[in-house]
Amino acid sequence: MKVRVLGSAAGGGFPQWNCNCPNCSAVRKGSPHLQARTQSSIAATADATNWVLFNASPDILEQLKSFPTLQPARALRDTAIRAVFLMDAQIDHTTGLYMLREHRQKLELWCHSLVREDLSTGNPLLKVLEHYCGVNWHEVPLSSAGFGMPEVPGLHFEAIPLTSNAPPYSPHRNQPQPGDNVGVTLVDAATGKRLFYAPGLGQMEAPVWAAMQAADCVLVDGTLWTNDEMITLGASRKTSRDMGHMPQSGPDGMMEWLDKLPARTRKILIHINNTNPILDEASPQRAELHSHGIEVAYDGMDIEL
Ligand code: MLT
Ligand code: MN
Ligand code: ZN
Repeated sequence: MKVRVLGSAAGGGFPQWNCNCPNCSAVRKGSPHLQARTQSSIAATADATNWVLFNASPDILEQLKSFPTLQPARALRDTAIRAVFLMDAQIDHTTGLYMLREHRQKLELWCHSLVREDLSTGNPLLKVLEHYCGVNWHEVPLSSAGFGMPEVPGLHFEAIPLTSNAPPYSPHRNQPQPGDNVGVTLVDAATGKRLFYAPGLGQMEAPVWAAMQAADCVLVDGTLWTNDEMITLGASRKTSRDMGHMPQSGPDGMMEWLDKLPARTRKILIHINNTNPILDEASPQRAELHSHGIEVAYDGMDIEL
């Protein structure tokens, strides 16, 4: 399978429009050690023709321009995106659906029913889209048997519920339920290769850990370096874990877990917040990740499994 990282930043992107943290300031000044990033999304294919988009970023139009493979130009109106899968109902993962409204058919949309509910009530994006292309909704089963998408041959998918947060506009904001956030394993049906994707991961739980151990490559939450990063900066009163994101450093942090995976597992962080010191390629934190064999996703990164 081929996976393209269309966007590697957390909500807000990098630089974030209103942020003057050291990273955002440095990237605006053109520092050679930091690269701008769009909000997280990946695309995957097994046959190099039919692609599934994971999350629809507010930056999708810029992302599509930067990856012409998704515009094969076989007809007046065309796209190689055959289906869209949403991991949650957050703004940074769903707003791009508005930008796909000119689609000639209904969008083949895969998301859990709780995500569909949020996107029909608190943020009624799917209702608005009905006035344009509309969607053909498919429930994402959370069973271990997984599922396939007829439009995307050669890939099989296994979704698992994650502990993270439902969005602020969700009717179940303070009662998180299984399905509000999912992680997904993409399996290449021909080779059996597995990629586990979870851009928002608040807690390591047994099913998540099992999926990570079974994967050839994990592409996981790299939002914040420390649990109190946003508090220390004065940017928020919430910890990383409060926001539904495991920090990389410290006890029970992402690095500690990634260290326990087999050496052959490729380990990549994605959904990097603009405040995270790992965005600075010259930082000691970036060097520390490197010494643990952990990569940092960037816009335009290709992963082949
Ligand atoms: C998150 O990942 O916590 C959310 O996407 C934040 C946001 O976009 O507001
Ligand atoms: Mn996010
Ligand atoms: Zn910033």
